[in-house]
Amino acid sequence: MPPASALLDWYDAHRRSLPWRAPAGAIADPYHVWISEVMLQQTTVTAVIPYYHRFLERFPTVEALARAPLDDVLAVWSGLGYYSRARNLYRCAQELAALGRFPRDVDSLRALPGIGAYTSAAIAAIAFGAPVVPVDGNVERIAARVFAVEAPLPAARKLIAKKAATLNREKEARARPSDFAQALFDLGAGVCTPRTPACMTCPWNEACAARQQGLQGDLPRKAPKAQRPTRYGAHFLLVDPSGRFLLRRRPEEGLLGGTMEMPGAPWRDVSWSAEEASGYRPMKDRSSKLSWTPAGRVKHVFTHFTLFVDLYAARSLVALNPADDDGVFLSGEDISRMGMSSLMIKCLENAMYAMTKGG
Ligand code: ADE
Repeated sequence: MPPASALLDWYDAHRRSLPWRAPAGAIADPYHVWISEVMLQQTTVTAVIPYYHRFLERFPTVEALARAPLDDVLAVWSGLGYYSRARNLYRCAQELAALGRFPRDVDSLRALPGIGAYTSAAIAAIAFGAPVVPVDGNVERIAARVFAVEAPLPAARKLIAKKAATLNREKEARARPSDFAQALFDLGAGVCTPRTPACMTCPWNEACAARQQGLQGDLPRKAPKAQRPTRYGAHFLLVDPSGRFLLRRRPEEGLLGGTMEMPGAPWRDVSWSAEEASGYRPMKDRSSKLSWTPAGRVKHVFTHFTLFVDLYAARSLVALNPADDDGVFLSGEDISRMGMSSLMIKCLENAMYAMTKGG
């Protein structure tokens, strides 16, 4: 078993100073821990920091978050992606506000919306000193190496998590659960890194089974990935005489749930011809007066597929009254307030550019 005291001594000397982290010896605010952990599930520490500051400035407490309109929350979140996380965060804030306090143990935390095994363990350990080991990608990598687990991910995930849960067996670890968890994060981020771990500076180098076998750079092994599939969509940018854009809301469920989008065709496995796509133009009753022109193609990579979007644009010379399922006309200012996905920002900018360039 790698010695907890060596890791904690290393942490005391090298800990990172992070905006959500309490100073040495102090206890972190569970709200800060929760927000940062949810943000960190999808993005690197460096990328999260400005979002974290903006979020805390706008929603300084659970109550402020629970009271805010959902669109404000999505707006501050926009750019981080994975909007279902922001929506769960919002639902969770309402439950917490109703409860009037943060639950302190793993099981009650886990019962909250959007809080899974990792986040519940992270909050319980970091903010409430529960003796648990939160297993994120960093901790998974450390455990796979320390115990030389050669079975590949994702099948080995359960086994590695089981081994990781034993890392805090010693009383030194149990005396400082918050520091122990964060020490593991820092070790994974700065020393036990994915490709070329810096074993010379690692407090656990002597106990590391992978290092003894010269396997540290190869673990955790990964089963070969299936190729990311390709999907295709077509979206339409309609601009009204006052420069507003026609946008509709995506269904609450599913990818980019509840965010605003330009109207268009569903995403599917084969490309849309211009003629097929034209069946999905908005404001069909006005189609004869609107002159739609191709406005380029955008590529966007999601976790599980790559999307190609064919864009079409039209400018109306008269004010229009869209039907409910067409959407609503919104100004640039409305959009920045409501938040839009990175995909739709990219589509809107490209279509605008193409339309302006085309006259
Ligand atoms: N990665 C996941 N959680 C983290 C945290 N609290 N600090 C630094 N890196 C992290």
